[in-house]
Order: sequence, then structure tokens, then C-alpha cells
Amino acid sequence: MEKNWREHLIEDYSSLKGKRVIVRLDWNMPITDGVVSDTSRADVTFEFLKKLSFAGVKMVLMTHFGEKGESIEPILSYIKLHVPFITYTPSLSFDELEQASRDIKEGEAILLENVRMWKGETDNLPSLGRNFATLGDVYINNAFSVSHREHASVVGIPKNLLSYLGPLFVRELEHLTHALTPQKPALLIIGGAKIKTKLSLIERYLNQGVHVFVGGAMVHDIWKARGVEIGTSLFDGTTPLTETFLAHPFLMTPIDVVLENGETVPFYSIPHDGKVVDCGKDTVEMISKTIAEAKTIIANGPLGLYEKGWLTGTEQVLTKIGTSNATTYIGGGDTVSVAHSLHLLRTFDFVSLGGGAMLDFLASGTLPGIHAVTESKQTGYR
Ligand code: 3PG
Repeated sequence: MEKNWREHLIEDYSSLKGKRVIVRLDWNMPITDGVVSDTSRADVTFEFLKKLSFAGVKMVLMTHFGEKGESIEPILSYIKLHVPFITYTPSLSFDELEQASRDIKEGEAILLENVRMWKGETDNLPSLGRNFATLGDVYINNAFSVSHREHASVVGIPKNLLSYLGPLFVRELEHLTHALTPQKPALLIIGGAKIKTKLSLIERYLNQGVHVFVGGAMVHDIWKARGVEIGTSLFDGTTPLTETFLAHPFLMTPIDVVLENGETVPFYSIPHDGKVVDCGKDTVEMISKTIAEAKTIIANGPLGLYEKGWLTGTEQVLTKIGTSNATTYIGGGDTVSVAHSLHLLRTFDFVSLGGGAMLDFLASGTLPGIHAVTESKQTGYR
């Protein structure tokens, strides 16, 4: 039976009036020249925060930000423009923060410093989860995109507080639950690097009779294991691939590739000093046929060396997906950003806010952050 994720959603915000509610958000956004260059992650969160404010909730907001645990200061002016009832409270002292949380007025919020500045966040130190929990009466996780991480602000707090999933989180689960067992014929298009982290997902879909097209650096591991020359192309090399996997009839890989010097060659003619940076046009044509026949398409991860600007394969394949008749799900920061720059976002049925979180959910049907909330203390204000 399909799960009713709404059981974990709080819909009557007025029941939270006067309560201190910790809201875990994902405001991890790219910064260019000191300003937020893609605000979409924040934009989708404002409506919920405004509703909580209107209901007289006292909010304690937390997010992670950046690669190195840096201050959230660069996002503040944008955030405050849209949700002015927020006060940035950068203290790292729990005594001060607890006092600040008690001083919040109804309808207002404090925003903590980057949660990754606290020692113990990323290794889920139990005492940090307990300390964070002292700042609220209720916890709401509205950050699907970080909920594949066993971090204190994701899984530690719900051990200590009555917890719920937020509306954006439930929206992700309602859509992605359909993608777990897609209507067939179905196609998963997966790119990027680190086959190790995506192998169980790929196998799960292959075993359901779903076609899986593997692009990006991951395919070099497959070719290497099959004895195909990959030249100086990037590969992971840490994950053994079984014969059954390599020979799976539904496993699809590029038939031609673009090399760093701009030349396009068949996949079996990569020179020893050649570096593959994208899939070629014959590959796009091949995959387009499978796209045209599919009833469901799931795509996550770039098909070329995105960081170096090799986007053509990804752009062409996303355009085909967007104009197909299938039910389509896309996710992953790089994929979504390519789709965004081509003005294609509206052509997909569902655009996930998650990258790794979407993949991990599709691999197992759950995430550490979901488990933590569904197992949280079930007493209190429900
Ligand atoms: C993301 O950008 O994918 C999420 O914010 C998770 O960030 P992380 O990979 O740093 O955990």
C-alpha cells in the first residue's frame, strides 16, 4: 500500500501558535561576486514561513551553507527582503541561543548561523542534537535535499522532540514515491561521477525492467571493467562491477563520445591519450528513441564534464525529455541548472530540490531524515 506521507505533515498551523518551532531548511545556495546567483532554493520556502508567522509561531530557523562551513551572511540580505520577520542570531553559545529562542515574539523568527559551524553536526554528536532541541518545542524538517545526511540537525533533533515533515518535503515524497516503481516502459538517465554511490540505485531499476542509460564519468568504470580503452578519462575505480551487471540487457551506455580536443569517436576507439568529456550526437539520437517510447523518465546528473562546460549532451537529452509524452522527474543541482538555463523547467512533471537525496530515496524508498521524523516522539501537540 502506498505510504501516506501527509501523516507526518502538520497542516493546522494554528495549533503551533506561541510554540517555538525549529524549522530545518536548505538555504545552501550558490554565491557569485558576493550575491546569491540562484535563489530558487530559498524562494520555495518563503510561503511556508509566512504561514507560520501569520499563525503566531515562534520560529528557530536553521540551514547549512557552502562547502567549508562558512557564515551564512551572504544570503541574509536576500532572505530578509522576503521574510523580514527574521533576526539573524549568529551566536554559537547554547545559553545565549536558548535565551534568544525564549525572547522570540509570536510570528517572528531567529535564524541561526550555519549548522555546520557546530562541532558534531556532520558526525551527528548526540549532545549536539540535544542542545539544538532545547531551542524548540517542535521540529519540522523542510529540507529534503539534505535528508540523506545523518547530521545532528537532520536526525539528532528528532530524537529529542516531536517532529514533522514540512510541506516541501512531503511534496518531494509524494512525487518521488511514484518514481520508485515507474510505469513502464521506463527510462532512468543517470550521469555524474562516483558509480559507487549510485550502483544500488541503477541495479534496483535494472531489476525492475527499467532501461538505465549511464553517462558522465560513471560510464568509464563500466567500460574499463568491460576491457574498453578509456584513455585518460575520469573514473572511480573503487567499485567492483559484476558480470551480471555489466551484461544486463537494459543497461545502456553511450555509443559515441566527444574527446577533450573536440573530436567525436565511437566509444570503442578512444585513444590512450584521449579524455572523454561528453556523449556524442549518435548517442543522443539513440537515447531519443528510448525517450520517445517511455511512459516514465527519471534523470539526474550531467552526461558530460559539467564543471569544464561540456554541456551539449546534457542539454540535448534534457530537451528531448522535456518535450516527450512521458511522466518526467528530474533532479540534481547541475541537471536542474542546465534545464533552468534552457528555460525548460516547466516542461518536466516534477523537478526535485534534491540531488543525492533524490538518488538515495529512489534507491531505498527512505532517507535517514525521514526515518528520524517518523520515529520521533509521538506525544505533544498533534
Ligand atoms: C545540496 O546542495 O545538494 C544540499 O544542500 C546538500 O548539501 P551537501 O551535499 O553539502 O550535504
